[in-house]
Amino acid sequence: TIDEKVEALIKQMTIEEKIGQLNQYTGDNAATGPITINPNKQAEIKKGLIGSMLNVLGTKYTRQYQELAMQSRLKIPLLFGQDVVHGYKTTFPIPLAEAASWDLEAMELSARISATEAAASGIHWTFAPMVDISRDPRWGRVMEGAGEDTYLGSKIAYARVKGFQVNLGDVNSVMACVKHFAAYGAAVGGRDYNSVDMSNRMLWETYLPPFKAALDAGAATFMNSFNDLNGIPATGNSYLLRDVLKGKWNFQGFVVSDWGSIGEMVSHGYVKDNKEAALSAITAGSDMDMESNTYRYNLEKLVEENKVPIALVDDAVKRILRKKFELGLFDDPYKFCNPEREQRELNNPEHTKAAREIAAKSIVLLKNERDVLPLSKGLKTIAFIGPMVKSKRDNHGFWAVDLKDIDSSYIVSQWEGVERKVGKRTKILYAKGCGVESKSKEGFAEALNVASQAEVIILSIGENWNKSGEAKSKSNLQLPGVQEELVKELQKTGKPIVILINAGRPLIFNWTADNMPTIVYTWWLGSEAGNAIADVLFGDYNPSGKLPMTFPRDEGQIPIYYNHFNTGRPSINEDKIYKSAYIDLPNSPKFPFGYGLSYTTFEYSNLKLSKKEMKNNETITVSVNIKNTGSVKGEEVVQLYLRDKVGSVVRPIIELKDFQKITLNRGETKTIEFTIDNQKLSFYNNALELVSEPGEFDLMIGSSSADIRLRDSFELVN
Ligand code: IFM
Repeated sequence: TIDEKVEALIKQMTIEEKIGQLNQYTGDNAATGPITINPNKQAEIKKGLIGSMLNVLGTKYTRQYQELAMQSRLKIPLLFGQDVVHGYKTTFPIPLAEAASWDLEAMELSARISATEAAASGIHWTFAPMVDISRDPRWGRVMEGAGEDTYLGSKIAYARVKGFQVNLGDVNSVMACVKHFAAYGAAVGGRDYNSVDMSNRMLWETYLPPFKAALDAGAATFMNSFNDLNGIPATGNSYLLRDVLKGKWNFQGFVVSDWGSIGEMVSHGYVKDNKEAALSAITAGSDMDMESNTYRYNLEKLVEENKVPIALVDDAVKRILRKKFELGLFDDPYKFCNPEREQRELNNPEHTKAAREIAAKSIVLLKNERDVLPLSKGLKTIAFIGPMVKSKRDNHGFWAVDLKDIDSSYIVSQWEGVERKVGKRTKILYAKGCGVESKSKEGFAEALNVASQAEVIILSIGENWNKSGEAKSKSNLQLPGVQEELVKELQKTGKPIVILINAGRPLIFNWTADNMPTIVYTWWLGSEAGNAIADVLFGDYNPSGKLPMTFPRDEGQIPIYYNHFNTGRPSINEDKIYKSAYIDLPNSPKFPFGYGLSYTTFEYSNLKLSKKEMKNNETITVSVNIKNTGSVKGEEVVQLYLRDKVGSVVRPIIELKDFQKITLNRGETKTIEFTIDNQKLSFYNNALELVSEPGEFDLMIGSSSADIRLRDSFELVN
C-alpha cells in the first residue's frame, strides 16, 4: 500500500532530507509574493533539500527541475504547484464571474479543463479553489472567490475540487488546494493581509462551510491564510489546523503555508523570530513552508532541542510523500512531462469552445429597459467606444497564468468578437474615448464624432485587470478616471447606448445605473471574452447570470450582504426615524444578491408544499411552476430562500438554501421541485452545535434575493 511505501521511505531519510520535503520555493516564472533570498535552489534540489516548487511552468522547465531531484540520494520527486485560478492557457471567467453563472456543471468543467492543460504542462497541483466568503468588495481578492453566500459558495467549492482532481493519479488531474484557511475574506476594512476578529459562531456558520464542502469533495491540500484570526495568525493556529481540519474533519492531506506566512508571524507580533515562527507553525499543523525559509533553517535545531518532537516532522513529511505516491510520481517522475500532450492539450479547440460558453453564462444583464438588446445583426453602423474595447489583457484578468513562451493572439478582444459576429454587413467605428484611469477628456471629441455616425453605441468601460486581485484592495469603488463623464457625454447624443462594465469586483456607478437603460456586467471573462460578449449582444446567447455578490450604492454601506439579521429596529421601507439606518443613504443595495435579467421573462406560480409540518427526520417537497412568458428561449436561476422566524440565536431575514438553473423554450412551463430537509433548517447555536429548532419557517421562491415571487411557510415540530 501507499502507507507502507511511505513508511519504508521515511525510515531511510535523514532529518535534513525530511525537512527538505517541507520546503517550497518559487521558480523563475513570475513571483507571486515578495522576493526573498533563497538558497541555491538547483544545488539544494540535488541534495534532496527541497520538496516542491511553484511558478515553474511547462514540460521543458519542470523536466529540468525534476532531473535535478532525480540526482538526489533518495530520488524523491518534486511537486510542482501553480496558481491555476481560472484556466491555464485557455482562460475562463475569473472565479467571481463564473460564480454568476450559478452553473455548477459549467464550473466543474472549467476546473477540469484547467487541470487538463496544467497537468499537460507539468503541473501537479493548483492553488485553487479559493473559497473565502467575502462581504467586502473593497477586498481585491473577491475576484478569486464565489462571492458572499455560504450555500452557493459551498456548492461551487465542491464542484471546483471535483473538476480539478477528477481522478487523482490520472494524467489529466491536479491536486486542489483549498484556500485560504480561514476567514481571510473578512479582513478588516477590506485591506489585504489584514486581521479578522469574529465569533466562532460566525466562523462556523458563514466562513467554514465552503472549506468543509471542498474537503468532502476530496481536496488533497489546504493553504493557510495570511490573516490573524481572533488574535492568532492562521498559519500558527492550532485550533484551525489541528483541532478542526486535522482533528474534527480528519483531513489526511497536507497544509501549505501561504507565501512567507510562517515568517510573517514575526511581523504579526505573535513570535519573536523565525525559529519561534517555525515552532509555532509545525506545532499548529502547517506542513509545508512556502518561501519563508523558516523550516529550512530552524526545524532541525528545534528537534535537537526537543522543542519539536520528530513525530511532528514525520507526520508532515508523510502527508506530503503520500500525495507524491498517489500522483504516481515515484513510478514515473516525468509522468506530467510529455511535450506532445502539452502541445495538443494547450491547443484543444474543445477547451476554447467551453471557455466561450462559460464566459457567456457568466455575463449579467443589469438593465435592458428599452429592449435595446439583443442587437440586430442587420445594423449598418455601430460605434464601439471605450478603453476596454481592444484590450486583451483586461479580458484575461488577474491571476491569469503568465505563459511567457506563448503569444497572446489567441485571446479574443471585444472588438474582434463583435467584428467576427457581424462580418462585413456592419461597419464598426472605433474610438477609445479615454484611458481607464486617465483624467484627460481629450478623446471625447473623437468618441462623439464616431457616435454621431452610428445607429447604436457600445461603450466598454470598467477597471483594469490588475486592479482586483491579491494586494489590490481599494477604498474607492467608483468607475475610475473620467469614464462616467464619457457616459454622460455620449448620452447627450440621444442614441441607443449599450454599456459594458468590465471588472473584477462589484463597482459603483450610480449615475450610469440611474440614467442608462442598457447595462451589461461583463466582469473579466477570459480568453473567449470577445466572442462571448458578442454572443450576448447579438442574441445568440440569452444572458442568464445572477450576481453572486451584493452591489453597494456607496462604499459607506460596506460590509453589505443580503442575509443580514433583522435587528431590534429594522428600517422597513427605508424608514429612518430611530431605526437601524443611514441618515444619508438607503440601506438597500444598488443591485441585490441573486439579481440578473434575461431577454425573456419568467412567471412563477403554483407554489405547493407537500406538507405544512415536518419533524426533523422528515422532508417537505416544494414544487413550483416556472413559465417562459417572453418571446425567446432562456434560462432562469430559481432561488429558494428560508427564514427561521425565531431562534436561540438571531437568524438572518433571508438565506439561500437551494437553487436550480433551468432552460425554458418560449411559452414552455416546467414544474421544479426542491426538498427541505433538516440540514437546510440547521444552524450553529451558541454552544457551536449544529441544530435545528422547532418553530415556523418562511419559505420564499424568487428570481433574486430582492425579487421574491412566491411565499409560504411551514413548521418544524418535535
Ligand atoms: O496561492 C497564492 C496565494 O493565494 C497568495 N499568495 C501567493 C500564493 C502562491 O502564488
